[in-house]
Amino acid sequence: MSDFFAHETAVIDEGCQIGTGTKVWHFSHLMTGCVLGEKCNIGQNVVISPKVVLGKNVKVQNNVSIYEGVTCDDDVFLGPSMVFTNVINPRSAVNRKNEYLKTHVGKGASIGANATIVCGHNIGQYAFIGAGAVVTKEVPDYALVVGNPARQMGWMSEFGQRLQFDAGNIAVCEESGEKYKLENNKVSKI
Ligand SMILES: CC(C)(COP(=O)(O)OP(=O)(O)OC[C@H]1O[C@@H](n2cnc3c(N)ncnc32)[C@H](O)[C@@H]1OP(=O)(O)O)[C@@H](O)C(=O)NCCC(=O)NCCS
Repeated sequence: MSDFFAHETAVIDEGCQIGTGTKVWHFSHLMTGCVLGEKCNIGQNVVISPKVVLGKNVKVQNNVSIYEGVTCDDDVFLGPSMVFTNVINPRSAVNRKNEYLKTHVGKGASIGANATIVCGHNIGQYAFIGAGAVVTKEVPDYALVVGNPARQMGWMSEFGQRLQFDAGNIAVCEESGEKYKLENNKVSKI
């Protein structure tokens, strides 16, 4: 058994795997078979469904439901009241439990407050989804997207700073000094 903290109002079903140092706050519900890495922070009124897998140091702000089909790599930030989905065409009278679409959120990605991720679209590592965006397509690594439907407005560094590429397609993060290159519309750290 790992050493984690759960507030007395949290409900943790049998068969959850919870990493050492993880904290689960007021009124949150972890369902059978979910897996949480070390040092995650699960805010208030969060639901984590069966089979969801979260890496290490995933921060989930208040009022987020993480549905079956969602996986998040290490260091993902899920902003307050953001929304995942897992059925593309729900009808109350039609059972679509075998039709859940998957959403994978890559390492270090951030999803802003109140954003919605339409299912079946992966979010690249260190991508940044602006507050209130509605994501309807794949989001590339390091891309910054905003709006409804979400459109790319630029690129973000691993420290969450806008990247301005020069004529040689090189950008320097103003916070970390790390360098990035843009090649074939893909960003990578150099
Ligand atoms: C996307 C974001 C990082 C952009 O920040 P920024 O680089 O400082 O951008 P600016 O404020 O300079 O805005 C640039 C333009 O984008 C627009 N814009 C900024 N954020 C936007 C958003 N979320 N949705 C739509 N448009 C947005 C601005 O209105 C501005 O438009 P204009 O040029 O027509 O005036 C930021 O606005 C954001 O959404 N952060 C998420 C905050 C959040 O949810 N935190 C959760 C934890 S508390």
